[in-house]
Amino acid sequence: STIAIILCLIAYLLGSISGAILSCRLWHLPDPRTHGSKNPGATNIYRLGGVQPALFTLLCDALKGVIPVWLAALLSAPPLEQGMVGMFAILGHMLPIFHGFRGGKGVATTLGVGLVIAPATSLILIIVWGSILKMSHTSSIASLTSAFIAPVLALVFNPDFTLVFLILSALIGVRHRDNLIRIVRRQEAKTRKQN
Ligand code: G3P
Repeated sequence: STIAIILCLIAYLLGSISGAILSCRLWHLPDPRTHGSKNPGATNIYRLGGVQPALFTLLCDALKGVIPVWLAALLSAPPLEQGMVGMFAILGHMLPIFHGFRGGKGVATTLGVGLVIAPATSLILIIVWGSILKMSHTSSIASLTSAFIAPVLALVFNPDFTLVFLILSALIGVRHRDNLIRIVRRQEAKTRKQN
């Protein structure tokens, strides 16, 4: 529908606003695109500035997913159109129009989208992500494992969105290809605050 197309555009533009770049300006941190892992995301902001700016980044980037999908749900767009709007928010985060199409890996924004379209699946994923981070001390391992099991959880708890989660997980996987190579080679560093 026309409303869905307009919401996709809004979602993409909103997704293009980087929570990490916002945080680095607010807290006067080094640019996350050139420091640490060079990724504009909550994990790298944690490396560069600690818990508070990282949580702020996570919140901003998740809201970019929550707001447009919630609007789509409010305007009673069908499930697949809600998923489509969410995907555009995530694509905005990954390929931001305001930052030369060089964006982040999409975990926080996918969480925001997921909390609206599939709350049960997403709440379980938060617990999974947190547990794996606690065991591995490596954010990318937590993100990749969560992305891998997300479609299975969706199939069980939110079956209308299984296909949506398959696509979102694949996108997250592709964005983590360098992390994945380092994990396999046992070269991925543990996630810790620098200095
Ligand atoms: O959400 C991104 C996280 O999974 C990995 O981030 O900075 O360690 O590549 P980073």
